[in-house]
Amino acid sequence: MKIMGRKHLVVVVALVVLMGGIEALTLCDMDDDGLMACKPAVTKPNPEAPSPPCCEALSGANLTCLCGYRNSFMLPSLGIDPDLAMALPAKCNLTPPPNC
Ligand SMILES: *[C@@H]1O[C@H](CO)[C@@H](O)[C@H](O)[C@H]1NC(C)=O
Repeated sequence: MKIMGRKHLVVVVALVVLMGGIEALTLCDMDDDGLMACKPAVTKPNPEAPSPPCCEALSGANLTCLCGYRNSFMLPSLGIDPDLAMALPAKCNLTPPPNC
């Protein structure tokens, strides 16, 4: 029974990652190219400085919407660290929304 339960969990996790991946294609007006460009900057343990393509994508993104993901399981499921993600606009010289 335990093994069956574990299998079920794997399916659920795979589904969540898959759904997260689909949503990521248009996450807050950032397309997947932008997200991939930013990924090295928001991944622990060794985040890089955000690249110009990343900041460009971020400047066109809905930052208010991104803030809404702050406490979501979505970002970690994509391998994104929420704290690093929230610090990203400032690193790109963008102004994040007030209550972010
Ligand atoms: C940005 O996202 C917020 C929250 O999802 C939404 O209310 C707002 O309309 C969006 N703004 C734009 C410019 O798309």
